[in-house]
Amino acid sequence: MSFNILAFGDVIGRPGRDALEQALESIKSSHKVDFIIVNGENAAGGFGLTRKIFDQFIGPMEIDCVTTGNHWMDKREIYDFMDHERLVLPGNMSNVDDQKQGWRIIRSRSGVNVAVINLLGKIFMIGDNRSPYDTVEKILSRIPPSVKIRVVDMHAEATSEKQGMAHLVSGQVSVVYGTHSHVPTADLRILKDFTGYVTDLGMTGGYDSVIGMDANAAVRRMRTGVKKDFEPAKGNPLSYACLFEIDENSGACTRVERLRFPMDRG
Ligand SMILES: [Fe+2]
Ligand SMILES: [Fe+2]
Repeated sequence: MSFNILAFGDVIGRPGRDALEQALESIKSSHKVDFIIVNGENAAGGFGLTRKIFDQFIGPMEIDCVTTGNHWMDKREIYDFMDHERLVLPGNMSNVDDQKQGWRIIRSRSGVNVAVINLLGKIFMIGDNRSPYDTVEKILSRIPPSVKIRVVDMHAEATSEKQGMAHLVSGQVSVVYGTHSHVPTADLRILKDFTGYVTDLGMTGGYDSVIGMDANAAVRRMRTGVKKDFEPAKGNPLSYACLFEIDENSGACTRVERLRFPMDRG
């Protein structure tokens, strides 16, 4: 039996959430989707995640799991729901317990267990965080062998770190994908005939922007250091995702497909 995981990278503010809703409706009508993962670190105004948005994701939008990244704690209210069973935080961050919040086993609507791991890269990342490589090995040693389907969201700036992580765990997990750069990459493939991989899923949000934020404000900040009117861009909202087809019995990824919605512009 094949089990299809639909994964979205960083969702940027309201334009991203609206684009995500439309994309989900369209993709679910044209593809078999068994499990949906979204990176929610920028979902609330570009910075962090609120309970209201999280509830919309896991409720009406039927998203199975929300991963995060370096912005996970930008909205303080997340501390009230950081132990939620469908929320995963970067397990190697200094303010995250790798065994409590860094990975979860989530049961799909069809009753299949999926382990989801979230990690943060080291390069160009603020914070004195633990090694993502040591952390993933520790987490993998604790996932029961019966849980065949395993997903790693490697939230990192450097493409090399994402490929390094994939090299380390390929053959042991079903999927490794990157998030955080907000730019979709075209290098989707299957590693060691087992692990589906893409360096970055790409963001869901306004693409007339600088990585999803108002372009004028972003350039002003780059030139002057002043952070003003820094809000999610509305222009050209697009949703990029990847669909990973997994063999339910072995956990091997058998196919990776790049999806974009809408298809008629980009
Ligand atoms: Fe992000
Ligand atoms: Fe990030």
